[in-house]
Amino acid sequence: MKKIFNTVIIGGGINGSSIAYQLSKMGRKVIILEKHLLACEASSAAAGMLAAQAEIEQDGPLFQLALKSQRMFSTLSSELFEYTGIDIEYVNKGMLKIAETEEIALEVKKQVTFQRNWDPAIQWVDSNEIRDMEPALAPSVAGGMYLPNDGHVQPIKLTQAFAKAALQFGAEIRENTEVLSFIYEQGKVIGVNTNKGMIHCEQVVIATGAWAAKLIKETGLDIPVYPVKGECFSVKPEAPVINTTIFSDKRCYLVPKQNGEIYIGATMAENTFDKNVTPGGIATLIERACHLVPQIKDLPWERVWCGIRPQTGDGNPYIGEHPEWKGLFIAAGHFRNGILLSPITGKLVADLLDGRLADDTLLTSFRIDRHNEFVH
Ligand code: FAD
Ligand code: GLY
Repeated sequence: MKKIFNTVIIGGGINGSSIAYQLSKMGRKVIILEKHLLACEASSAAAGMLAAQAEIEQDGPLFQLALKSQRMFSTLSSELFEYTGIDIEYVNKGMLKIAETEEIALEVKKQVTFQRNWDPAIQWVDSNEIRDMEPALAPSVAGGMYLPNDGHVQPIKLTQAFAKAALQFGAEIRENTEVLSFIYEQGKVIGVNTNKGMIHCEQVVIATGAWAAKLIKETGLDIPVYPVKGECFSVKPEAPVINTTIFSDKRCYLVPKQNGEIYIGATMAENTFDKNVTPGGIATLIERACHLVPQIKDLPWERVWCGIRPQTGDGNPYIGEHPEWKGLFIAAGHFRNGILLSPITGKLVADLLDGRLADDTLLTSFRIDRHNEFVH
């Protein structure tokens, strides 16, 4: 007799793994199908910042989603450790959003006023105070916004912890298994065709990050998910050089990880799936990082890497059910914040599949058909 899963999840990144964890915890029979290896794409390239308030500068559905997800990390970290023994290296020492000039300081001060609506502990720190907090910062830094609740995690470990916990609740994971198309009957998805044969199920979730548009096109929907390449490097000082994350702008940040490495990211190059690390990309980052923290130039080199962010036309992810193909769901397009958004994505998708979220207003902004780009 053929095996039928409740849910096939396509993609073994952080979002696919988080969804698998939540669904299998509910008692559903779940399988993750991953083209290559678990966490081999964006989810292993990320810096792991939970930067709801440093990265998102205006109120709206994405900001509210990010805040909700950020608040889940403390409990999630202990819960996953209990189930799997994996420490996701949740560090909650805050973040400094740097103003490198007096002109930028005016903008950052406006951000402080706005962000304090959600977290009154956020404050402006002037050039003297900021160097008391982080003596390694360049003397030219004009000040910054201190965000005590924008922490970080180790993204690969978080993905592995979600996946291991899902396995413990009965999920299966098949690596080196690429989904090629859907099996569709009478208005409903009933399985997938893979490079290793068919798999039948009741529901399918597409969690394929930057590769989501390709699969969904078969269903008559053209969603604008596109790749944005990001290169990074790290150094590993013998003793800590910075205590908190230093976030200059979206082109340079330094994240002091629990193992002593400082992750320095990240470049942004649109519309390429190329994962080569380039001297030009790393040179730009080195210049920016040394401008912020001059000592970086003398620290022991550790490694370089690169990943592909899944961006969308309007910057919001797609989280929801296909408007016409029953049983087909999507969770992709989390761009710069997929690690931060992974806990809430897992929870929302699991609740949605369980029929508990039909009227969730937050999800309206993340609908698959919000651009009405059907191409029948
Ligand atoms: P992915 O991790 O890309 O996983 C998708 C998976 O689907 C892949 O493993 C792929 O092999 C698989 N797949 C694709 N097609 C198929 C198919 N047909 N069949 C089977 N499998 C398939 N986010 C943060 O929150 N904080 C950060 O600090 C941060 N820093 C970042 C730094 C860099 C340099 C980059 C590149 C990204 C960063 N991000 C950060 C963003 C974050 O990494 C992504 O948003 C997130 O990892 C997306 O996860 P995902 O599971 O949706 O996609
Ligand atoms: N959120 C950091 C990045 O995408 O580079």
